[in-house]
This record gives sequence, structure tokens and C-alpha cells, in this order.
Amino acid sequence: MAKLNITTLEGESQTVEAPEGTPMMDALRDAGLVEGTCGGVASCGTCHVYFADAAKAGERTEDEGYMLEGLEDFVEIREGSRLSCQIKIGVEHDGLAIEIAPEA
Ligand code: FES
Repeated sequence: MAKLNITTLEGESQTVEAPEGTPMMDALRDAGLVEGTCGGVASCGTCHVYFADAAKAGERTEDEGYMLEGLEDFVEIREGSRLSCQIKIGVEHDGLAIEIAPEA
């Protein structure tokens, strides 16, 4: 299990626990924190999160990079921006601080 420390859109703190291997979007959607409208195929941007520590954000997938570029006119894209559907939760995410990004 990994425990994620979330800052919600309202600026509140919340923790979400999920087993390793779970797509991060699924864990956040189940907690009511993101929409995940496209079901996890990097085509809606409604699962966008900001990693507080960009060094822990990992590599964006190619499709994810294009989607984030497309969102750039509507929402802030940071170095630590990721689409949470493209991330599988692992032990390295335990204690991770992430912020839910506003929807475009
Ligand atoms: S769920 Fe649609 S981009 Fe992640």
C-alpha cells in the first residue's frame, strides 16, 4: 500500500491509500478527487495532478505529453504535471505529495 498526501482543489489536505499496481487515476477517482472521463487513455486531461516534487514525477508518456501541451492554453502546466492515469502506484509513491490540478 502507498499513502498519497493530496491537496484538493479546495486547498484541503486528504490522504488516499492504494495498493501497488493501481493506476493513480483510479485511486483518485474512487476518492472523488478527479473525473477520469476518458477512462485512462490520456485523452481528456481530467486526471491532471501536480507532483509537489517534480523530480519524483517520472517520465511522461508520449500521448500524455501531447495532451498536456493541449491543456496548456487552459490550465497551468508545471514541471511536475502528470496525467495520473498514466502512473501505476508503486512503493516509491508512498508519502508522495500531489495537488489536484484544475480542470480545463
Ligand atoms: S483519465 Fe483521461 S487523461 Fe487521464
